[in-house]
Amino acid sequence: MPTINELYSKEQIESRIGEMGAQISADLKDCERPVVIGVLKGALIFMADLVRHIQTRDPLQIEFVRLSSYGSATESSGNVSTPYLELPNIARRHIIVVEDIVDSGRTARFFMQYLREQFNPASLRLAVFLDKPSRRVVSIEPDYIGFTIDDLFVVGYGLDFAEQYRELPFLGELANSD
Ligand code: IMP
Ligand code: MG
Repeated sequence: MPTINELYSKEQIESRIGEMGAQISADLKDCERPVVIGVLKGALIFMADLVRHIQTRDPLQIEFVRLSSYGSATESSGNVSTPYLELPNIARRHIIVVEDIVDSGRTARFFMQYLREQFNPASLRLAVFLDKPSRRVVSIEPDYIGFTIDDLFVVGYGLDFAEQYRELPFLGELANSD
């Protein structure tokens, strides 16, 4: 059995997400009908918690896509696949993309570029639970970052290893995964 060493507790995560929500609320204050797009599956839990800390003048519209760049391994495949990429017409709207983690940056860069080309958004921002800047292959700078971490493979709070451990309420480093 692999060992999972806790990096951020449930309480630390809750408190950080409250701060992120307040910051996003301030930035979206005067925006008309903002759209929040969660990238499944990893952003599932982060998205659910974050949107409950966002207060805006207009109600939020919530959408999901499913993108994937990892197989079941701990190394990025280098390709982004789009198992589900159906979105309503959100042309010229204010968009916030919610991602679990930016690693190589390929997934986030692909999707931000896609949204820009398809919908010419009034504004487009990226909120990520985790950033691993040391692993970056393509250039992408998230607008909101929950925690910046070293080059570790992490699980929990939505993040998986081979589709396991997403349900853990804390974030942990997966040790002995080889
Ligand atoms: P990127 O395209 O290389 O930035 O990879 C982004 C995707 O890889 C994320 O949405 C995650 O699903 C996955 N990923 C990257 N690092 C980790 C990790 O440490 N644990 C679990 N999944 C990860
Ligand atoms: Mg994943």
